[in-house]
Amino acid sequence: MAKSGSTLPAGSPELLLPRWDPGQPRRAQLEAGLREAIRAGRLRPSARLPSSRALALELGVSRRLVVEVYEQLAAEGYVLARRGSGTRVAPRAQTNGAGAPAQPPPPVPAPVTGIDLFPGAPDLSLFPRRAWGRALRHALAELPDSRLGYGEFAGTTELRVALAEHLGRVRAAAAEPERVVVCAGYQQGLRLFCQLVRARGGRRIAVEDPGYPVAGWTIESEGMEVVPVPIDDDGIDVDALAAAGPDAVVVTPAHSLPLGAVLAPSRRRQLVAWARASDALVLEDDYDAELRYDRGPAGTLQGLAPDVVVLAGTVSKTLAPALRLGWLLLPAELVPIAIATRTMADGGGPRIEERALAELIASGGFDRHVRAARQRYRSKRAVLLEAIAAELPGARVRGIAAGLHVVLELPAGCEEDAVLAAAAKEGVHPQALGAFTRRYPQPPALVLGYGLPSERELREAVAVLSRAASASARARRGRRGSDRPPTRRSRSRPG
Ligand SMILES: Cc1ncc(COP(=O)(O)O)c(C=O)c1O
Repeated sequence: MAKSGSTLPAGSPELLLPRWDPGQPRRAQLEAGLREAIRAGRLRPSARLPSSRALALELGVSRRLVVEVYEQLAAEGYVLARRGSGTRVAPRAQTNGAGAPAQPPPPVPAPVTGIDLFPGAPDLSLFPRRAWGRALRHALAELPDSRLGYGEFAGTTELRVALAEHLGRVRAAAAEPERVVVCAGYQQGLRLFCQLVRARGGRRIAVEDPGYPVAGWTIESEGMEVVPVPIDDDGIDVDALAAAGPDAVVVTPAHSLPLGAVLAPSRRRQLVAWARASDALVLEDDYDAELRYDRGPAGTLQGLAPDVVVLAGTVSKTLAPALRLGWLLLPAELVPIAIATRTMADGGGPRIEERALAELIASGGFDRHVRAARQRYRSKRAVLLEAIAAELPGARVRGIAAGLHVVLELPAGCEEDAVLAAAAKEGVHPQALGAFTRRYPQPPALVLGYGLPSERELREAVAVLSRAASASARARRGRRGSDRPPTRRSRSRPG
């Protein structure tokens, strides 16, 4: 939606939407405009929206487009659509602090039967149960009763020390224990980051597009605006970022989700220069940096610019999402407010588990586990790529040899939804690249996570995807054929 420009009254005096931006799809603009009007309170809870027919006429778009926009906003909880009484703003859908709109469903799908190619999932069978058990017993033995009460809101002291040492050594981060704030996974770290941005007067946060959908949802649930910025194989487009002028940006410089890009050195410098010049904050999501299969990871952006970059990490990929343990490494002046915000959020984290993680890291058990996990994932990735080369020769794999996922660009003529549906029928569940995009379309592709499945399941999955892709291409050719004018079709018929 264009930032400036006069307003266009549409349907009701309350519904003022900015003029169309000719460079953006109208559907996305209308969705964003309505969301923003609801969040800003210009459309009050329970207010009736114009009928789809009236709004379509007013805006000069198809009725179908308006219906789809209303359906999308209903799915996100912003509006309620009732047969007979039209579409209304949801009663609680209010904004900016007071009661955030109902959120889209969480990203983790219901447990699937079959082969689950969910890209965020590590191999849960690798969880180091024995080492974790030893670390927990150590924590129980070490923590005196006096440390089982309230307090240590920034995280258990030993964990802040262990993380600072680990991040300095393994991620070339500029780390001191006093600047580490432990949080409940990356997701809480991102929420705290949003609150820091708001405390500095900001409200627009840029994200990579395509990118991690949860990031956008979390920002929106804080009543802030998500600014999608394109990303390519060299990472986020910093010129486009600067042109959009947000207050902060969330990036994945070590390995992006889903494209698997590494932020190029020139763009790193450009990003830091932009942040310093525009007094913007950068959140560096370092979610899977430990998992590298053919090279060492690049050092963190935070190491380059600890004054403007907040480094966020998690054990969700290296150990297990169930632990809900992550951390932020912050510029010194933001630490007190981050600690206060975490304290207000949930009173601090689980001290015994935090102490156990400190022990696992300090004893070398964490490094040993990550070394073993890396071997396993390297081998799974190789199996997946071999199977793709053999069964799907027309497909292209994108992304460096890292993390837990690849992007598979489908052979010419395939459609994402058709391939997904056909694969699901055979019990194989990848994700569509389209599910990770907001504004910038990508070629038809699937995101394949290889963390959870066994090597045998990965081979089976690729065989199924190959059949599904051929069926989709055939169906499309068939449809195209039947769309042609009769004369041409009859001419092209053999015989
Ligand atoms: C890009 C990205 N960042 C961070 C995370 C980790 O999130 P959390 O620590 O909240 O489990 C994930 C997990 O899927 C991810 O894909």
